[in-house]
Amino acid sequence: MIRILSIESSCDETAAAVVEDGRTVRSNIISSQIRTHELYGGVVPEIASRKHLEAIDTCITQALTEADTTMDEIDAIAVTYGPGLVGALLVGVAEAKALAFATGKPLIGVNHIRGHIAANYICDPDWEPPFLCLVVSGGHTHLVIVRDYTDFEILGKTRDDAAGEAFDKVARAIGLGYPGGPKVDREAKNGNPEAVHFPRPCIDEEGYSFSFSGLKSAVLNYLNQLTMKGETYDRADIAASFQQSIVDVLVFKTMQAAKEYGIDRIALAGGVSANSAIREGFRKACAERGYALSIPELIYCTDNAAMIGCAGYYQFLEKDFADLSLNAVPGDGLR
Ligand code: KG4
Ligand code: ZN
Repeated sequence: MIRILSIESSCDETAAAVVEDGRTVRSNIISSQIRTHELYGGVVPEIASRKHLEAIDTCITQALTEADTTMDEIDAIAVTYGPGLVGALLVGVAEAKALAFATGKPLIGVNHIRGHIAANYICDPDWEPPFLCLVVSGGHTHLVIVRDYTDFEILGKTRDDAAGEAFDKVARAIGLGYPGGPKVDREAKNGNPEAVHFPRPCIDEEGYSFSFSGLKSAVLNYLNQLTMKGETYDRADIAASFQQSIVDVLVFKTMQAAKEYGIDRIALAGGVSANSAIREGFRKACAERGYALSIPELIYCTDNAAMIGCAGYYQFLEKDFADLSLNAVPGDGLR
């Protein structure tokens, strides 16, 4: 049995976990900074780094304690090296390197997007590659063929804003504040998704690129026009209509790729896959076509360290270890 201690600090959650054989989560500690960043309406990178420094040792100790284990029983240390905020990533990377150096255990540098994809292996013990995965987070929108645990083919990504960014910006525009995604999700439950027809960007284009900045602008323009005319708007209707546009684009593009590439197994990953309308849209589309669907539990959709331990396990099996020159790579894509 392989037991991995994993660390994640790429954005605003400090997290540590103990995962066995890639699939069994023995502990999953997440210290969220949401309360702090809420005051500023978004993540402040410098503050995120400092908060990570304050929390990381406690998170690791708690992860070991809750897993009822000690460093002696750990086989390797996995850490997110990128993509993410450079100062935030550095805290996790430095901590993991120090632990690896002090204990002589192998170090594994994990790509954050690989981590999100691996969340599916935790939630469904029988889920295996190959499958088509839509990764939708605050920083990334990727449609990926997962050929094997460490073998990925990117079919398309966003040309501008990620889906999560669009949620966060629209949330701010309609006065919901940070963190935007969950607030839009909640607000949309009371709104009419057909109240306003916002664009469905890229839906008529060939290929699998996404673009969400135009959709965000369309919402902002709509709100400005109403404001200039002195008219009010129904916040829930805007949230629901905007969200429906995102759901339509994501479902359409993913189903198109599944058909083109003859794949009948679909997975979602990343913070935005916590969205209730997106989850429902994919359930319906996959049921209609007889496709298998994997969606991680909410806690494994947003940032956590268990998913990093899971992805790290498959690198462990390939002896894909890092040395102490491992550095944070903020702009790295999926690799
Ligand atoms: O994966 P994640 O935790 O961090 C990144 O790797 O970026 O994703 C965070 C993003 C944020 O943009 C947040 O607003 C969005 O995921 N998000 C949601 C929901 N929960 C989180 N977006 C829509 N609906 C949700 N329920
Ligand atoms: Zn993430």
